[in-house]
Amino acid sequence: MSEPTSQGPTAIKGWIVFSAVLVAVFAIGLLLASVMERRAESKQGQRDLQPIAAWESDNSKWAANWPREYASWKATEKTDGVTKYGGSAMRDLLAEDPNNVILFAGYAFAKDYNQARGHAYTIKDVMATGRDISTKPGTCWTCKSPDVPRLMAEMGPAKFYDTPAKDLYNEVKHSIGCADCHDPKTMALTITRPALKEAFERQGKDIANASHQEMRTLVCAQCHVEYYFKKDESKGQKAYLTFPWDKGMGVEEMDAYYDEKQFTDWTHPISGAKMVKMQHPDYEVYSKGVHAYRNVSCADCHMPYKTEGGQKFTDHQIRSPLENISNSCAVCHRWGEDDIRKRVESIQDKIVEGRHIAEDAIAKAHFDIAACKQAGATDEELAEVRKLIRKAQLRWDYVAANNGLGFHAPQECQRILAAAADLGQQTRIAAARILAKKGVTEPVVYPDWSSKQKAQDLIKLFGKDGTPPKLIAAAAAAPTAAK
Ligand code: HEC
Ligand code: HEC
Ligand code: HEC
Ligand code: HEC
Repeated sequence: MSEPTSQGPTAIKGWIVFSAVLVAVFAIGLLLASVMERRAESKQGQRDLQPIAAWESDNSKWAANWPREYASWKATEKTDGVTKYGGSAMRDLLAEDPNNVILFAGYAFAKDYNQARGHAYTIKDVMATGRDISTKPGTCWTCKSPDVPRLMAEMGPAKFYDTPAKDLYNEVKHSIGCADCHDPKTMALTITRPALKEAFERQGKDIANASHQEMRTLVCAQCHVEYYFKKDESKGQKAYLTFPWDKGMGVEEMDAYYDEKQFTDWTHPISGAKMVKMQHPDYEVYSKGVHAYRNVSCADCHMPYKTEGGQKFTDHQIRSPLENISNSCAVCHRWGEDDIRKRVESIQDKIVEGRHIAEDAIAKAHFDIAACKQAGATDEELAEVRKLIRKAQLRWDYVAANNGLGFHAPQECQRILAAAADLGQQTRIAAARILAKKGVTEPVVYPDWSSKQKAQDLIKLFGKDGTPPKLIAAAAAAPTAAK
């Protein structure tokens, strides 16, 4: 009988330890291999990058290097997203709110005014709009295409702006894309539009010093801003794209800027007032809100991160964040998706209410001034009321034309709408005094503009060949109920 060796159990233990180590080493090896492979994969991605030409405006040429960003960018073609007040579908803002037709009478927006769609449609939409671009300067193309930085590099910005838009039809082909926001060599975010750089310079700031987080907003501020076409005879410039920020980006400062320049977009055919059209002061309004105050960028909400196949990347399907709450707002706000949506809608509902109060006053005020004219008031007597209505409408439009219906800075927008409503009512009171002086004591008889069609037919009567309806005759043939 052999005695069990004292080594027996130890040997077994040894083997167990040995195999455990073996398994562990193998597992670690596998893990390492997979990590190395991932690294190699992503390095490979970098090593295999195709060189992209300077000013490459064809977005598909960037796709091989950046397939995920490209695919998400391409998704801005989708038009199925509809939110309570926004989304990517076409919306006819004149039919939704015929007051717009009255306020923009004599200006192209009274003919055709749709809500913005995705970046894939910038060229299509501007070509299809009733606001004819064929007679416009090249400046109109500035915020539409990555062909623009290319053309500006070739021609210089001043020449680009002054070339008739129709002469550039064959040059401006690609909708907003990679070369609008990225340097093709480094892929760093970059400012390609001179108007933004120049506006910073005039305020004594160098945009090159902007932080990375600021750049995530400033690439958007190249286009999503208020602007006008500056005429400078001394430089021979007819339509130089300029942002009116020299006194600041608030509505009062822009109003003062335009007054000082005696700038006018058009003369209103009903009231005869010299008006300013606000474009889409998205960056300016955003900068007054709590998110800007807390350094949340446009991209944080409109281009949140997305994960696909273990890869995190920036979602380039720029759209309403309400179509993508879980990746956008909910990253910072841990409330339910439904709560977040309802919160946004309730903010927007209140802005809409304020907006209607202001625009009802302003629309009626245009007719009040027309009534004064019919009662024999002279241009001189009307100078003050016309100034008032210009200020009222400029404020209303600052809020109305800004995208997102006030969400970007709700308190600021309500403050401005309150001022717009007040100025609108001041106009009406001043007009009533003028009417009283002319011996008109009966209330103004307002025509009917309760639908887009009625409003468009009505404003034609105030055009060159029309005969305006009587607004002051107490015994008007068919008195219409006041709107
Ligand atoms: C805190 C998040 C947030 C930030 C930051 C933000 N937005 Fe928005 N934006 C929204 C929301 C919410 C809406 C409303 C969407 C809707 O009504 O469907 C919106 C709407 C818009 C719209 C209209 C989209 C539509 O479908 O109607 C545009 C254009 C826009 N924002 C541009 C910008 C720009 C440019 C910036 C930066 C200057 C910016 N936004 C910053 C949340 C944000
Ligand atoms: C080169 C100019 C340009 C730049 C840069 C730009 N936009 Fe736009 N954006 C536009 C134009 C023009 C439209 C309207 C397109 C249409 O209706 O055809 C638009 C539309 C939008 C819309 C509406 C989309 C929808 O589906 O409703 C959003 C949101 C938006 N932009 C956000 C941004 C954000 C955020 C940035 C920056 C990351 C940005 N944009 C940068 C010009 C620009
Ligand atoms: C309206 C501006 C805009 C346009 C157009 C745009 N990008 Fe971007 N892109 C951004 C922003 C903002 C970021 C985030 C950058 C950051 O935070 O560093 C980004 C990030 C990226 C990155 C870095 C990796 C990532 O996903 O975060 C790549 C690569 C990229 N974009 C590729 C593209 C390509 C390809 C196109 C054209 C198909 C394109 N971009 C069009 C604004 C834009
Ligand atoms: C990057 C982080 C971030 C993202 C993304 C973000 N927010 Fe905010 N939000 C903040 C911060 C910071 C505040 C300031 C209050 C605070 O500190 O909680 C704030 C405040 C708010 C408020 C209160 C506003 C007020 O005037 O007090 C609302 C409402 C809101 N966010 C909605 C949204 C919605 C809707 C989205 C998505 C479209 C969104 N936020 C996306 C960070 C964010």
